[in-house]
Amino acid sequence: MVDRSKQQAEAQSVAFLSAGGYQVTIAPGLLDRIGEIAMAEAPAHRYAVISDSNVAPLHASRVVSSLERSGPSPLLLTVQAGEAHKTRESWIALTDRLLEASFGRDSAIIALGGGVVCDVAGFVAATFMRGVPVVHVPTSLLAMIDASLGGKTGVDTPHGKNLVGAFHQPSAVVIDPEVLETLPIDELRSGMAEAIKHGAIADAAYFDYLAQEAPGLLAEGPGRRDVQALNYVIEKSVRLKLGVVATDEREAGARKALNFGHTIGHAIEMLSGYSMRHGEAVGVGMLLEATAAEREGITETGTAARIRSALVAAGLPTERPSGQLASRIVESMRSDKKSRGGVTEYSVPRRIGVMAAADSGYSVRLPDSVVEEVLG
Ligand SMILES: NC(=O)c1ccc[n+]([C@@H]2O[C@H](COP(=O)([O-])OP(=O)(O)OC[C@H]3O[C@@H](n4cnc5c(N)ncnc54)[C@H](O)[C@@H]3O)[C@@H](O)[C@H]2O)c1
Ligand SMILES: [Zn+2]
Repeated sequence: MVDRSKQQAEAQSVAFLSAGGYQVTIAPGLLDRIGEIAMAEAPAHRYAVISDSNVAPLHASRVVSSLERSGPSPLLLTVQAGEAHKTRESWIALTDRLLEASFGRDSAIIALGGGVVCDVAGFVAATFMRGVPVVHVPTSLLAMIDASLGGKTGVDTPHGKNLVGAFHQPSAVVIDPEVLETLPIDELRSGMAEAIKHGAIADAAYFDYLAQEAPGLLAEGPGRRDVQALNYVIEKSVRLKLGVVATDEREAGARKALNFGHTIGHAIEMLSGYSMRHGEAVGVGMLLEATAAEREGITETGTAARIRSALVAAGLPTERPSGQLASRIVESMRSDKKSRGGVTEYSVPRRIGVMAAADSGYSVRLPDSVVEEVLG
């Protein structure tokens, strides 16, 4: 019998080798091939699939069946969906379930979900038995182009986002763009914010492409979305992110560029009680950080306006939730990882596509007073 899904996947498959040595493969239908990929890239006696309460009912059965075709039945574990569950409590619950099921050092994790699952399942893999392999199967746009790549894992604490974690490179990243068909439109928009960031920090032409094509990329309703354009965005952003991470795996310099929008963004996201999506908060963060950096003469005038237009084109917010005090945001940023010796560091572009301070560690200092002023 001809295996059509395999043929189709091979015909449209794109694969990159990351500097970390793991393969990133993008192709429709890959969800049915996780078993063979896991056996090749992360061979183990037992697999646990970690997913969330939204994604598991939609997509886990294909992944489980695929693993069953290659070996013993995997253990399927789910966490409650949402950033509010990217916690040490989820990490404990998942780890305990693995221990109860007698998983040992010869096991591996398959992370099936958005960025929350990538981060928490990656952190479980980083720490379980001092580290077992993880294969990322990202299901949100944001996770495909950002969270699944680069090896950062971790959980949030009441003091801030991602404050407890580890670097743990995946053994493989498997991207099946077809799963985006079930992703809610607001989540797709949220992922687009990180794509806009990739353009803003590294590729002006890509930035302009996104601003222009956003309506087609984000069209709602069956058959209306430009799937080819979306596949191009996935491929382009994966290349850009891998390119940045390749030069600086542990974030000593160039990788900091990826934090554009995240210093203010993380504070806004956390203070919203995670009612604001990560990408939405990062979009507002990019706009505010660029505005403050323009006032300080670090960023070229007009950059913030272009960012605003791109966010509007993608249907993303340009304002933080009402009621968030400027002073609280500045205070919250001081407990972020980007704060050193009481001074908050930012990574901002000099202009769209080119980072500022590339010769001095990719970090700039913006006075709290200016940031508070911009926050209004
Ligand atoms: N580790 C990194 O380098 C890195 C980089 C960027 C972002 N992140 C983290 O990623 C997280 C944000 O990721 P996110 O936006 O994917 O959030 P998420 O994981 O919460 O996913 C968003 C929502 O979409 C649902 N979902 C995911 N895929 C789906 C699908 N195919 N069909 C239907 N529903 C689906 C989820 O259940 C969730 O409700 C944040 O915690 C952020 O800090 C990490
Ligand atoms: Zn991000």
